[in-house]
Amino acid sequence: MALDLDFVRAQFPAFNEAALQGQAFFENAGGSYTCAPVIERLMRYYTQRKVQPYGPYDASRLAGEEMDEARVRLAAIMGVDTDEVSFGPSTTQNTYVLAQAFAGFMQPGEAIVVTNQDHEANTGPWRRLAERGIEVREWKIDPDTGHLDPEALANLLDEKVRLVCFPHCSNVVGEINPVTEITAMAHAAGAFVCVDGVSYAPHGIPNVGELGPDIYLFSAYKTYGPHQGIMVMRRALGTTLPNQGHFFNEGTLYKRFTPAGPDHAQIAASAGMADYIDALAAHEGITGDGAARGAGVHDLMRAHEVELLQPLLDYASTKNSVRLIGPDQAASRAPTVALASQENAEVLAQRLVKHGVMAGGGDFYAVRALQAMGVNMDKGVLRVSFTHYTSKAEIDQLLNALDDIL
Ligand SMILES: Cc1ncc(COP(=O)(O)O)c(C=O)c1O
Repeated sequence: MALDLDFVRAQFPAFNEAALQGQAFFENAGGSYTCAPVIERLMRYYTQRKVQPYGPYDASRLAGEEMDEARVRLAAIMGVDTDEVSFGPSTTQNTYVLAQAFAGFMQPGEAIVVTNQDHEANTGPWRRLAERGIEVREWKIDPDTGHLDPEALANLLDEKVRLVCFPHCSNVVGEINPVTEITAMAHAAGAFVCVDGVSYAPHGIPNVGELGPDIYLFSAYKTYGPHQGIMVMRRALGTTLPNQGHFFNEGTLYKRFTPAGPDHAQIAASAGMADYIDALAAHEGITGDGAARGAGVHDLMRAHEVELLQPLLDYASTKNSVRLIGPDQAASRAPTVALASQENAEVLAQRLVKHGVMAGGGDFYAVRALQAMGVNMDKGVLRVSFTHYTSKAEIDQLLNALDDIL
């Protein structure tokens, strides 16, 4: 079954926007286009329900119901309980709160494992625990390939390790890490697991319950939604870590790691992501419960992306003037492709503009990964990233443009 791209693109107002015609969007890893149901729900919330939620009057009751609906439906897609899903201002802010919680849970002399493949959001906050006497062990990538080898993790695990943090896939290396295998290794050693899913979730929201980590983080503004961080916190860990919210909220799992008042409208609008997944599932004849529909849509998205990605990887790996970061096989990676060259990547991105290609250059906050791979940080990398709504014609436009500027 192939993805019906006309249907898909009709769900994203950006594709009908006059100012964006002819512009091929390749900075999706920075933030995706927003799907229509999210925009409609956000608009409805701001115009019809912008009152304190969970009160007795209709506008307030509906506001609260829509916020709850977002957690109920996203939890179903991810195969976890509703109260295991919470929202925070961003993934980075969620991680800082989590690090604070672990600081209260761990004893000096205990250890955590972090990688140098991660975006800074899932490594910097954890590394700062060293200031509290926690030992920080770095799981290092292969400097040539960027690969994170599970065998190397085995050498870092012992009874002192309480937490292993790693990305589902890096926002520059792109390789999909075997979350279930790594989680099993960490659990066997008595450690919890925190996975940064920000770079993976845009390519199909995963069934987190089946994947197995204790914490799974992603950012809704990259999964067709509003600017929110979404956190799955499995119950066993969430009730063990010290509460970071108000004392009277400590019995409510989804409030324990979001100390600030949440953005009501954006949480309510996040149900639009589930609307989109369900609409796509219905259109493609995918049935079943939330998790089954989510899995079917995930697989369709992935198949389309893999097909479009391989020609780009083939091009990049044969082009002498660039170094492709990460694997050259589409099946093992996300369509987030970083290219290093002798030229400044921001200048290269600027040159793409005249070809109607929207992309970016720099370090993408993956400073440690690029440094470990020996990338010249003054030049950075050109990153081109796409999702399931990208067309073959846009890939061709990109390839022609790259051929001109590289
Ligand atoms: C892989 C990865 N992790 C984490 C983040 C941080 O997410 P947020 O902007 O929600 O803090 C990003 C943002 O680009 C990212 O790409």
